[in-house]
Amino acid sequence: MTLDPVLARIDADLPQATERLFELLRIPSISTDPAFKADCDRAADWLVADLKSIGFDASKRPTPGHPMVVGHSGGDAAHLLFYGHYDVQPVDPLELWDNDPFDPRIEETPKGKVIRGRGTADDKGQLMTFVEACRAWKAVHGTLPANISMFFEGEEESGSPSLTPFMEENRAELTADIALISDTSLFDENTPAIMTQLRGLLGEELTITGPSRDLHSGMYGGVAMNPARVLARIIAALHDDEGRITVPGFYEGVPELSNELAAAWDDLKFDHESFLGEVGLSEPAGEKGRRPLEMIWSRPTCEVNGIWSGYTGDGFKTVLPSKASAKISFRLVGTQNPHEIRKAFRKMVQDMLPADCSVSFKDHGASKASVMTTTHPAFAQARKALSDEWPNAAAFTGGGGSIPIAGHFKEILDMDTMLIGFGKDDDGLHSPNEKYDLSSFHKGIRSWARILHAMTS
Ligand code: BES
Ligand code: ZN
Repeated sequence: MTLDPVLARIDADLPQATERLFELLRIPSISTDPAFKADCDRAADWLVADLKSIGFDASKRPTPGHPMVVGHSGGDAAHLLFYGHYDVQPVDPLELWDNDPFDPRIEETPKGKVIRGRGTADDKGQLMTFVEACRAWKAVHGTLPANISMFFEGEEESGSPSLTPFMEENRAELTADIALISDTSLFDENTPAIMTQLRGLLGEELTITGPSRDLHSGMYGGVAMNPARVLARIIAALHDDEGRITVPGFYEGVPELSNELAAAWDDLKFDHESFLGEVGLSEPAGEKGRRPLEMIWSRPTCEVNGIWSGYTGDGFKTVLPSKASAKISFRLVGTQNPHEIRKAFRKMVQDMLPADCSVSFKDHGASKASVMTTTHPAFAQARKALSDEWPNAAAFTGGGGSIPIAGHFKEILDMDTMLIGFGKDDDGLHSPNEKYDLSSFHKGIRSWARILHAMTS
């Protein structure tokens, strides 16, 4: 089956493809907030109907949380499974958005046209690049070039609680020759990327309690234990002066970068000054003596994601808080064991508690790092296909974020995963005014058409 008419069809159909994406973007499928449960359901229904319109046998599949969408094209050719997530992050702080996050629009910017709205880049726009490539293929050739299964989740942004049970229960149905995911970014605007490793993630929330109620800081200050000070001391102790994490045993299973990967990453000539400059920073702030790319892709981290205690409203209140809390996450690499690290972190906190303080913890999930095996022929085929579409050859890169299913495909279904996405660093994932470049969408669709062609001809 020829590729050129499919690419021509994609070019001609771009306005309609964008309008279809807008329909999906208008549904506020925020998975973490129960107020949007019906919207998550509606997004799943929309996807089922859209897949049916291109000939997939698709259905909405209930879970204890938000539904999955599964669809199959059938056919005898190589069997590919494409995964994406239709849920999005919350929009707050809403006042920082220039427009309604769920009223998507095309905007002209100095760097070109962008699609603005929540979920444009993460992950509805990326998910639809693959669906649109299939639609164009079907329109031109009457059939798809492979036996394709689609698997869409609605809980990725809230830790995927229903995912592994669903994968275990539907093992046969979900197993294919390879899994494809489009939820990552380009290396830069001219260089497409196949991400070959992702970090894992461990989430912890802790609350330290001191006095049994908030106290007048004049009456009690000096003599009473202040849990905000205790929390600050604990957080400050999580890193040493070299930027290394002090949780005992934390670096077990953290591999050194191989010479081969170090050379390949150095060849990418990552411009950390402009990467940091774009967000108003200048100095890499990770472990001393590490390359900036290692800090993002292959070193583990410990970050404070939120911290609260006492009076934070307008004005001033001389209070000594009863409680102090923080949300802390660890990005994990290699074979670091999230459960052991959770235990070691909790013990370290317990051991630092002074008299009259207690601590409670809340588990916010954990996933291990994943490293892709790149020997499956699809990797070389996709690399060549991407290099035909973009100005520069495709790079094998790492990725600092986490997509737990990439590990589950290997562990539960024994499948390799190929991560190819078209996002950019300035897309504003999880931030106000999220966008996806129209060129990411357009060239993303064309890229998938080329990859499907390369994998099946
Ligand atoms: N699309 C991202 C993951 C990503 C971003 C990978 C950038 C590589 C580069 C995904 O939707 C995401 O944000 N995942 C969460 C993890 C989840 C368990 C909440 C993350 O990485 O924080
Ligand atoms: Zn995502």
